Amino acid sequence: MRIVIHRTAQDAGTALARFVARVLQLQPDVTLGLPTGQTPILFYRELVALHRAGEADFRQATTFNLDEFAGISGDDPRSFRTFMRKHLFSHVNLPPDRAHVLDGGRKDWRSEIREFESAMTAAGGLDLVLLGIGRNGHIGFNAPASALAARTHRTRLMAGTRRANAALAGGDWRRVPTHALSMGIGTMLEARAVVLLATGSDKAGVIGRALRGPITTRLPASMLQLHPNVLVVIDRAAATRL
Ligand code: F6R
Repeated sequence: MRIVIHRTAQDAGTALARFVARVLQLQPDVTLGLPTGQTPILFYRELVALHRAGEADFRQATTFNLDEFAGISGDDPRSFRTFMRKHLFSHVNLPPDRAHVLDGGRKDWRSEIREFESAMTAAGGLDLVLLGIGRNGHIGFNAPASALAARTHRTRLMAGTRRANAALAGGDWRRVPTHALSMGIGTMLEARAVVLLATGSDKAGVIGRALRGPITTRLPASMLQLHPNVLVVIDRAAATRL
């Protein structure tokens, strides 16, 4: 595991954007796993700037988002597809049919998660998965539990996770959907490379526990210690408990 500590959140986002742009240059047909949330916004902004500067070409790339809310459509303003459209998809030349986001509005969610996993397999698996981390150690929507799902699955969201996503629902956490679809830990760990992005002092405790503490399903991000190729990109504020 390689840990790179940047001075500020902006520096971390800029460095990660440069890293991904470089990956796109070296492997134009790369398959990426992508996160949503507050943390990657600066990163997406920088990545869009690099695309506009001609340094990040998505024409041959394929992406799979980590998760999506269930029970709402991709057009809903609360959806992660809307988030991705706003922060990345509508600004870069990624072909829409290769920008995979789980369809949380589909009634037959079992078929949806099966087809999502099949599409990932057909794309040759994830080359690089980018992850954020929740304060309780969740990655994707894999919350702390006595057992974790390996594959893409449907899950009930904890109240704390819904509160953390309130910004997507006009600040009212009760309007955040109660369920979500999420990649499983196994799917993430099968990616050839993993990057974990975390910034801010409120992530310092969980970063310390996830990277230095015991591996446990009670802290899903601790599982990343099992992966042979992990890059952790953090700012100083998130690095104080390492
Ligand atoms: C979202 C996701 C989540 C977030 C986590 C941190 O796609 O995978 O695990 O990474 O909730 O969110 P922020 O960045 O808002 O603190």
